[in-house]
Amino acid sequence: MIKMAVLGFGTVGSGVVELIDINQEVIRRAVPEGIYVKHILDLREFPDSPYNDRVTHDFEDILNDPEIRIICETMGGKEPAYTFTKKALERGISVCTSNKELVAAFGPELLKTAADNHCSYLFEASVGGGIPIIRPLNECLKQEEITSIYGILNGTTNYIMTRMEEAGLSFEEALKEAQDSGYAERNPEADVEGHDACRKIAILSSLACGKTVRYEDIPCEGISGITKEDFGYARKMGMAIKLLGVMKREKSGLCVRTAPFMLKADHPLYSVRDVFNAVFVHGNMVDDLMFYGRGAGKFPTASAVVSDIMQLAATLGTNLPCVWSAETVSLSDSGQERYRYFVRADKGLQEAAKKNFGQIEYVHSDMSAEDEIAFITPRLTEDEWAKSSTAFGDVISKIRLLSD
Ligand code: HSE
Repeated sequence: MIKMAVLGFGTVGSGVVELIDINQEVIRRAVPEGIYVKHILDLREFPDSPYNDRVTHDFEDILNDPEIRIICETMGGKEPAYTFTKKALERGISVCTSNKELVAAFGPELLKTAADNHCSYLFEASVGGGIPIIRPLNECLKQEEITSIYGILNGTTNYIMTRMEEAGLSFEEALKEAQDSGYAERNPEADVEGHDACRKIAILSSLACGKTVRYEDIPCEGISGITKEDFGYARKMGMAIKLLGVMKREKSGLCVRTAPFMLKADHPLYSVRDVFNAVFVHGNMVDDLMFYGRGAGKFPTASAVVSDIMQLAATLGTNLPCVWSAETVSLSDSGQERYRYFVRADKGLQEAAKKNFGQIEYVHSDMSAEDEIAFITPRLTEDEWAKSSTAFGDVISKIRLLSD
């Protein structure tokens, strides 16, 4: 059997170990020798787990075991995941991961280390949970100029927004449910403030461009300011509110952004509910493609990890190339992106709204408070929005419309 180790026995890591046992016969169709998890690295003990006798607390036990050919890193976070991954690749041990934070920050470097050492670094589970999206971009779509990607890339926030919209839960109640279901990150800020989705669109954009899109360069907004009342207006307009990672090739260059958007019912992402993710890709030859599935959770994410493990097992001793190079892409000026904006503000600002934004369209909702107005602005650049809204005054909320 091909021997491997799992780093981190949390939700995803334990899912990987269990999945390999449950589906061992299925796995043998493609990897006839079979795959065996010999070591599990974790700080904790798991006295109630049948796998507890495989748990070690020392990474050196794994690194120095000549039988280990593959390491699966499901620890999350930059350290010690980076150090362990680097050391393994330098020894020629292939690594796969679900760790988007590590991939977004060190992807090109770790890919190069793998290439230099005749092994591979794979990260299918880092974006979209169980959805196959990394391998399609890296292999099936290499011939395409990818002109846009629109992704619902965070299961936790999509779950929270679905529960707020459909069950009328508060943000806190919906977040608690998501955490209890094992979807949320240890620190929910990464989910709700958009950082997780931002890292994921950075990874997808890098694969689409073949160069590095730095997540630090991407404007990023989360959902913590979105309220039940915003959903009331969206419903009235026949729209949904979704946290999107967006990459678009414009004449001005590459635009990448993470933010909540309102989108119409005819958009393919409109009906993506609950913990599901979806990635809507447009290639200049293939046209539209839609990838859909569970974006978080134990077995869906473990499934993507195990697909990498199997590919690594079938290609031991070789390097699986990746289109993503270390050269950095300069993003176009985000201040020049144009959107229509949904705005809520105090009723006292009615005149100021017309004065500062011009031809606005008022919106009403069953949940409208007596003392507020809501409207849609004409198309404005982000810079124009910033200038006009400063002159206008405080807004209760502002959400971009996806397109018009
Ligand atoms: N917290 C992440 C999410 C997990 O909710 O999408 C999967 O990356």
